[in-house]
Amino acid sequence: MTALGITGADDPIDWDALTRYATEVMGRAYAPYSHYKVGVAGLVDDGRVVLGCNVENAAYGVALCAECGMVSALHSTGGGRLVAVACVDGQGKPLMPCGRCRQLLWENGGPEMQLQTPTGIKTMNEVLPDAFSAVDLETPEQ
Ligand code: THU
Repeated sequence: MTALGITGADDPIDWDALTRYATEVMGRAYAPYSHYKVGVAGLVDDGRVVLGCNVENAAYGVALCAECGMVSALHSTGGGRLVAVACVDGQGKPLMPCGRCRQLLWENGGPEMQLQTPTGIKTMNEVLPDAFSAVDLETPEQ
């Protein structure tokens, strides 16, 4: 058990704890334009937890999704692979990551990463089927 109350990556995922962390960081979102706060918590394969919240901008189009912050935290705190991710809205309810963020999660968690969604726990393979990934870059030029 880590200080954050999350067990090792081989243990069952403590979704309640991940959701609590996501809800806590959601409270630090900067969303003065949409008023739609988002928080996300990811369990890393070494047992640590990384967090993110959305950060908006007066230039609306450059808003940073919560998942962007979490992925940045993943790398800036040592890297690793995401094992399980919980994303919540302003009510602390599961939120389905947008398409761009599913691509970010795929890059850093792969097809087996588990995601809490409004309709249950799913794998990335289920929420981003036939994903474009680094493998596609290996295709020789025609
Ligand atoms: N948002 C996220 O943070 N993650 C998502 O997956 C969906 C959308 C944010 C972006 C924007 O600040 C607000 O939610 C409304 O779109």
